[in-house]
Amino acid sequence: MKTKIIKINPLFPKLNKLKEAAKVIVNGGLVAFPTETVYGLGANAFNKNAIKKIFLAKGRPGDNPLIVHIYKKEQLFDLSEDVPSKAQKLINYFWPGPLTIILKKSSLVPDEVTAGLQTVAIRMPKNKIALNLIKMADLPIAAPSANLSGKPSPTTGKHVIDDLNGKIDLIIDGGKVNIGLESTVVDLTSDIPEILRPGKITKKQLEKIIGKVNGPNKNKTEKPKSPGMKYRHYSPKAKVLIAKNNQDVEKICKKYNNEKIKQLKYINKSHMAKNLFKDFRLADKKGYTLIIVKEIKDQDFGNAIMDRLRKASNS
Ligand code: TXA
Ligand code: MG
Repeated sequence: MKTKIIKINPLFPKLNKLKEAAKVIVNGGLVAFPTETVYGLGANAFNKNAIKKIFLAKGRPGDNPLIVHIYKKEQLFDLSEDVPSKAQKLINYFWPGPLTIILKKSSLVPDEVTAGLQTVAIRMPKNKIALNLIKMADLPIAAPSANLSGKPSPTTGKHVIDDLNGKIDLIIDGGKVNIGLESTVVDLTSDIPEILRPGKITKKQLEKIIGKVNGPNKNKTEKPKSPGMKYRHYSPKAKVLIAKNNQDVEKICKKYNNEKIKQLKYINKSHMAKNLFKDFRLADKKGYTLIIVKEIKDQDFGNAIMDRLRKASNS
């Protein structure tokens, strides 16, 4: 398949360039588009066949449900008839933004989107290109991250082209994303909401708005509620080791002196989040066999970054 690539300046997006992409969605095709977190691979959430194509293009396991993206709050009520007050509060505060909420699904949402679950993940992204694409298609857009399954999530249009060129109808290259890590996923179907995947919006921020929140659960032996969390994710081909401090870095370098080693360094948390997946991909391209990253404080946004690092290092 020939993939059409459309470049759009994220700062001054010419929105009429999105018309063609919206048409592809309406006609049951696949479009990769930027969001503020990572790039998504989108299809009409109400079209079962289009959804199946997402799983095929990514090589995604069929038991891993998708997030449905909307552009205005009213669309939420097509996807769920059961929107608890805590959900209302969160979306009023954090949408559009990097927060995905899990609610009971309505009968309109196909099982293909939710991988057979009775719940659906929903989010309103904070990105002009994404919001206008959804608006022009006038449909909710189901979209996982636009990487091949198992690879780090794409944070530039180039990453999507590397993974999916020739496999999907259209790629919107809107440059580098803002955040660089996937959204916070919070399950609102139980009395006490639970974080299933940590992200930019932290537990503290959520608790300020709705009181006690459980998770994220680090106990790897428990069956994960968010199916995607059980797969080895975010992983470069190179081995990833997390060092505790500079001494630890030296020790690792000595121990693995026959590997081609790259140490990744960052100036702060947002710099780290923005560049980590890109640096994983770059290290692979350059043939490094071992990546060393120094750990950061496992709290607030650092908790989400450490979560991705641990997944990449399989620890
Ligand atoms: O930032 C993001 O969330 C990006 C952008 C494109 O929006 N999307 C993203 O999608 O990261 P994906 O498919 O790579 O990750 C979705 C996560 C997976 O861990 C999946 O298992 C979980 O959300 N999920 C989706 N629906 C769920 C549901 N009904 N119950 C529990 N977990 C769910
Ligand atoms: Mg993903």
